Amino acid sequence: MNDRHAPDLAAATSLDELYPALAARCLTAGWHKARPSLWPSPRGAFHPRHWRYSEARLAMDLAGEWIGTELAERRNLLTFNPVGDNDYATARTLVSAYQMIKPDEHARAHRHTPNALRVVLDAGPGLYTVVDGARLPMCRGDVLLTPNWTWHSHYNEGPDRAYWIDMLDVPLVHLLEPMFFEPHPDEYQPTTSTPEVSPYRFTQAEAEARLALLPPRADGSRTLVLDSQTHMPTMELSFSSLCAGGALALPRSTVNRIFAVSEGEGRAQIGELSFEWARGDLFVVPSWTACRIEARGATLLFQASDEPVLRALGFHREESAANT
Ligand SMILES: [Fe+2]
Repeated sequence: MNDRHAPDLAAATSLDELYPALAARCLTAGWHKARPSLWPSPRGAFHPRHWRYSEARLAMDLAGEWIGTELAERRNLLTFNPVGDNDYATARTLVSAYQMIKPDEHARAHRHTPNALRVVLDAGPGLYTVVDGARLPMCRGDVLLTPNWTWHSHYNEGPDRAYWIDMLDVPLVHLLEPMFFEPHPDEYQPTTSTPEVSPYRFTQAEAEARLALLPPRADGSRTLVLDSQTHMPTMELSFSSLCAGGALALPRSTVNRIFAVSEGEGRAQIGELSFEWARGDLFVVPSWTACRIEARGATLLFQASDEPVLRALGFHREESAANT
């Protein structure tokens, strides 16, 4: 063999001499790699975590004195999962954030490939979002979609500060790398319609009415999966209702979930993490972590998960009750 370009390789007389010559060529021996590449079951890099709306709201009210929407693309607080050097993602594929907008402010129009949604926590009259020209009201409890590459901007023309939760699949886009982002050339996008109903808006009242018609699970909970995947195929969105004293128990699965509390209070056990939660709180159930959510009063939970991604790719697995 011609070793004119690899005299160091050709000169190796043992594996220990071969390894540095391989490394110089960005080759590594599969039998000698520093870290395993396969393991028996998910290792749970992301942790269960809980964030309080009361604390986020206080912080946003303070920040609102010092930062305006003219400076910040969005006045939001990201709920990052403290794992490694991560300072953004809430779960492997999803991120959530709290956002506040003051009266007479607007969040300027832009679009991006990540899918996004909002869960409105507190809002007075005059709060609305515009999605591809359609003006949609943002009322307490609403879920609003801004799918991949739709122009979106938010406006508060009422007298009250408005607060909501954002959830996006940005970490998935970071992993797969198809990121595109574009600010609107005119900052504002024109309003071209004010539809009575929109496939991008789900109201709490409608969700509660539909939930009431569903049969309860063995744990007493009811879950309504929203008809959103046509527009946002990376996420499953759902509402779950629990009665006072009821519980929602989920076995370990490969799905990553973020919960937002639309109504109610109670306690939860997510893996090793146990905590009390209240309206507006966020919590994350990472892949391969069991959870049990107990309600003290009538409760409505909103959930975004990456289940459609895992199912589409053949990676969805769920532990049977017998194994939990
Ligand atoms: Fe956005």
